[in-house]
Amino acid sequence: MAVEKDKEKLEELKAEIEKLKKEKGAVILAHYYQQGDIQDVADYIGDSLALAQIATKLKEPVIVMCGVYFMGETAKILCPDKTVLIPDASAGCSLADSCDAVAFEEFINEHPDYTVVSYVNTSAAVKALTDVVVTSSNAIKIIDTFPEDEKIIFGPDRNLGGYINSLTGRKMLLWDGACHVHEQFSVEKLIELKKAHPAAKVLAHPECKRALIMLADKVGSTAALLDYARTSDCREFIVATESGILHQMQRDCPGKTFIPLPPVDSTCGCNDCSFMKLNTMEKLRDCLRDGKPEVTVDPEIAELAVRPINRMLDLCK
Ligand code: 13P
Ligand code: SF4
Repeated sequence: MAVEKDKEKLEELKAEIEKLKKEKGAVILAHYYQQGDIQDVADYIGDSLALAQIATKLKEPVIVMCGVYFMGETAKILCPDKTVLIPDASAGCSLADSCDAVAFEEFINEHPDYTVVSYVNTSAAVKALTDVVVTSSNAIKIIDTFPEDEKIIFGPDRNLGGYINSLTGRKMLLWDGACHVHEQFSVEKLIELKKAHPAAKVLAHPECKRALIMLADKVGSTAALLDYARTSDCREFIVATESGILHQMQRDCPGKTFIPLPPVDSTCGCNDCSFMKLNTMEKLRDCLRDGKPEVTVDPEIAELAVRPINRMLDLCK
């Protein structure tokens, strides 16, 4: 009975969201880490790069970014004339928070002849200090465009930066930041799961620690991991990234099995990003109805931050 009631409530919410979306001229963008129901009502689902690229192509005056705040900021910086809404404005990012703009600027000033490459998981203020922005799906391609002896600062993710250094042979200076979700995946539990499922392929996001990356069959952005799962002949996968991605993996690959890798200190079988999961269907409905919370970026910062973002978009055309 309770299940029936929940289903009814969900259908009502979906109908309200559809109606409000039309009334307000809004389009819903969702990251793969959003809860499944939000992914199902979204007009577009993607990784960080795809969400930024899609934002630049939309005709609708209102973008609802179902993701974390820096994703909303990127859309706002790229589309300053549009209204960008986010269901929960406190949906931050521990990785972006690990790079304070004032401290990052001091670090840059200590290394004046360095090119600054920043991961998209940063605040608008950090992007404003940056020469080129990258995402996990284009970082190596973009860094490869620099001469081999280019001196590079890479921030804020030490794991992604270390992974790029190991693949490219570069010695980029790394900011000491990390994501609380990806740092928590357990290598010991991965080894146990690999023993129990010897045919399974391991899919890992490059924000994971080096020891874990070394055990992975595929390292990539959320979109790249999903693509690998879709096209691989393998039937079983151990997934070392946020559990929201399992929704699309299971939907797109009905005959395949996806096993979420657990974190170190948890009895639960998955690993959620508490920030991503702040967005709910109710908050999505409310933000469409009320036109808030709105994502705002200081215009002076936006003017500086748009350059490294556009440079990234140009380099990965
Ligand atoms: P992607 O760009 O791979 O979607 O990653 C975003 C993110 O926040 C990973 O934790
Ligand atoms: Fe940020 Fe980590 Fe959440 Fe991704 S999973 S949004 S990097 S806190």
